[in-house]
Amino acid sequence: MPKSRKRILTGDRPTGALHLGHYVGSLANRVKLQDDYESYIIIADVQALTTHWEKDENLTRDVFQIATDYLAAGINPEKSTIFIQSRIPEIHELTMYFSMYTSVNVLRHNPTIKSEAAQHGFKDITYGFLGYPVSQTADIAIFKADLVPVGEDQIPHIELARKIVRRFNDLYKPVLVEPQVLIGDIPRLIGLDGKAKMSKSLNNAIFLMDSPLEVEQKVQNAVTDPARIRKTDPGHPEVCTIFEYQKVFNPGEVEQIENECRQGKIGCVACKKNLASKLNLLLEPMRERRQKYSDRSLVMDILKEGTNRAHQVARETMADVREAMNINYFA
Ligand code: TRP
Repeated sequence: MPKSRKRILTGDRPTGALHLGHYVGSLANRVKLQDDYESYIIIADVQALTTHWEKDENLTRDVFQIATDYLAAGINPEKSTIFIQSRIPEIHELTMYFSMYTSVNVLRHNPTIKSEAAQHGFKDITYGFLGYPVSQTADIAIFKADLVPVGEDQIPHIELARKIVRRFNDLYKPVLVEPQVLIGDIPRLIGLDGKAKMSKSLNNAIFLMDSPLEVEQKVQNAVTDPARIRKTDPGHPEVCTIFEYQKVFNPGEVEQIENECRQGKIGCVACKKNLASKLNLLLEPMRERRQKYSDRSLVMDILKEGTNRAHQVARETMADVREAMNINYFA
């Protein structure tokens, strides 16, 4: 099938509910990009097994959770193809071929692999975990994706993907497309604790599925400038987590808020109320869409259809790959 528009591929491991950090870091961008690109979104359930390999009752739940979060955030299934990695066996076949000529040392020195292994406290690492950048390369290459919009931590993986694809094209036949990283200039969103990036496991997140009241309460409980005890004390927005959020979610008022905070004219409670209302304004349309998708069979149908569509593309690429490698015995 000839491509008319450039193709992008991106996705996530299904490991729990998505939060505002995901929204500003990638989802908002994906919602925009789907208008101009042929857009594929992978739910990387096999990659989730690289760190959560024990029999996981949560995996099915997490796949539905992330699919529903995507749809709520505004990913439009008419424009974007959402699909499940494990259900496309050709990805795993291509991973195997790539792994024949990919160096173990290169994988061992991959900075993202190293920091994730440390983060998980792995003393030893599994073959599957060490190799997930190879599998991720297959995710991308099998769709002949031109662009991969990802965060900074993924750059080493996309660089490796480019090398693996280039090598394939040299070794066999130039049938694969060298992907390029499409990096957004969006900074990581800090968590409500003001200490680390927003993350489910650190318990400092506002989830896309939080209710208006939960949003208000989380915002009211967030840390602000510790030097500010009374409303009239001059504030220091540069050390305030809420101010970080005002910059991202309330750009129209941020200058005024900064001035009033420094002069002790606006108190933290009022500032937080203001922010919570802006966040709820952003989340309201997502809540409406989520309501629409509360029927699980609708989400299931979207996943099935997306996976079928993706599978068709993967089959076509693999026919080229096998031909290039001289292993298309029965073609
Ligand atoms: N590694 C990505 C993450 O953890 C998820 C992912 C899997 C991915 N396959 C991909 C991202 C292909 C981009 C392209 O977020």
